[in-house]
Amino acid sequence: MARDHLHLPILEETGYVVLDSYQQSIDPAEWRDLAYVDWKSSGDTRFAPLASAYGEIECNGFWHFDPPKADKDGVWIESQTSVAPTLTARVQGIGADVGRCRIIELQPNTYADALYNSHLDDNNRLNPEGEGWVLRLFMQLTHNPDSVMVLREDIDDPSTETRISLPAGAQLLVDSERMWHSVWHQGDQPRHCLITSVESGPELEKWVFEHNPAQLVESAPLDQGHAYRSEVEAQERRAARTAFYGYDPTTVMSEA
Ligand SMILES: [Fe+2]
Repeated sequence: MARDHLHLPILEETGYVVLDSYQQSIDPAEWRDLAYVDWKSSGDTRFAPLASAYGEIECNGFWHFDPPKADKDGVWIESQTSVAPTLTARVQGIGADVGRCRIIELQPNTYADALYNSHLDDNNRLNPEGEGWVLRLFMQLTHNPDSVMVLREDIDDPSTETRISLPAGAQLLVDSERMWHSVWHQGDQPRHCLITSVESGPELEKWVFEHNPAQLVESAPLDQGHAYRSEVEAQERRAARTAFYGYDPTTVMSEA
């Protein structure tokens, strides 16, 4: 891990914290009525940006633009934030610098799919030394208590896995450039989650401590036979992909 940025000490040990759940209900229109763009990441997905590099409805990494910039100073998209005022206020209320901020829509998948799709994010490209390390904040919108965020310190080592349940309101802060991550979403409807690139610093740290951060949570249960079969399938598919490309594309940090 790069040590030339400002890091939150509370993420040092496990690479994530689970925060108190958000308790107020939000009108689903705040995510259903947004403009979505097709953007393939970690499975069958679409994204609806609330903030982007320069205020357009798109999801590219901020370094692709002229001038390029780090994943900070995102520009709020008025036509989107006006549809999602509560979601926008939740993020802006943290007071930290925000880069990419968007809702992901993920179709149901399998545990093996999740392992196959697991990746590292590219959050800190062009982030100047001495400034805050950019993390990802996940705010679960739809109620999917049987779905889990699958985190691994080492993608090839299942013993490093933590599975975090995703009921509506679940809030997780993840160093997603360090922790392999993806979601196993069960059900027959898509999952929606607000995902924000957020800069480490005093504002974020204060907000984290106001929400009872848990550095270590017990994994959601998983049948061991199913786990083993899925692991084998996922690693075979990952190996085939690596052979196809000549390298493992998930080690080249994802833009999503
Ligand atoms: Fe990601």
